[in-house]
Amino acid sequence: MEFFLDTADVDEIREIAAWGILDGVTTNPSLIKKSGRDFKQVVAEIASICDGPISAEVTAMDTAGMIEQGRALKAALPDNVIIKIPCTPEGLAATKVLTEDGTDTNVTLIFSAAQALMAAKAGATYVSPFIGRIDDTGHDGMNLIADIMDTWANYPSITTKVLAASIRHPTHVLQCIQLGAHTATMPAKIFRQLMKHPLTDRGLEGFMRDWAEVEKAGNA
Ligand code: G3P
Repeated sequence: MEFFLDTADVDEIREIAAWGILDGVTTNPSLIKKSGRDFKQVVAEIASICDGPISAEVTAMDTAGMIEQGRALKAALPDNVIIKIPCTPEGLAATKVLTEDGTDTNVTLIFSAAQALMAAKAGATYVSPFIGRIDDTGHDGMNLIADIMDTWANYPSITTKVLAASIRHPTHVLQCIQLGAHTATMPAKIFRQLMKHPLTDRGLEGFMRDWAEVEKAGNA
């Protein structure tokens, strides 16, 4: 399974990239706003830190505008930048054209298996179902991942990867893995939570304490 960071904070990206297991980064207009930085500059810097796919989102609402923005981003930014496009009819048409250009895409704001299938038909490289935002409405977002994976299982020719997004806690990640989602994008906080276990910390403290005594005894 691929693990992506969902952030435009380059310090966080450097921190997690140093772990050696970061496969890509997703951004969106809200994350760019939070970074307080120039869109293209920050995406270029992210793409220099992480070799994997870096999603940069178009903001035009019409097909021609999305295609123009997508092509301009591809021309201006490093090769590993891919184009994130909202799941609208206009976005579908733009996905089709950009796919024909040879550009990888990530179709975002997916809230049903039908939308995911439509995006796959348009040639999307990734589809991004938003789990946490469904949970926020009182429904179980994980059912969407299960529905999409069931749909994919019926059509083995689909190559579009399911990129679980809007992940709020480590259990979301584990459930996505169990359902066979290809990719999960999550905030740095969740990477840290996935690695944390009090027994690891306690065990390490014990080993270090005992090793200090081995050294003190001159037996290291
Ligand atoms: O990047 C898209 C998605 O992961 C957003 O998550 O937390 O804003 O619902 P969130």
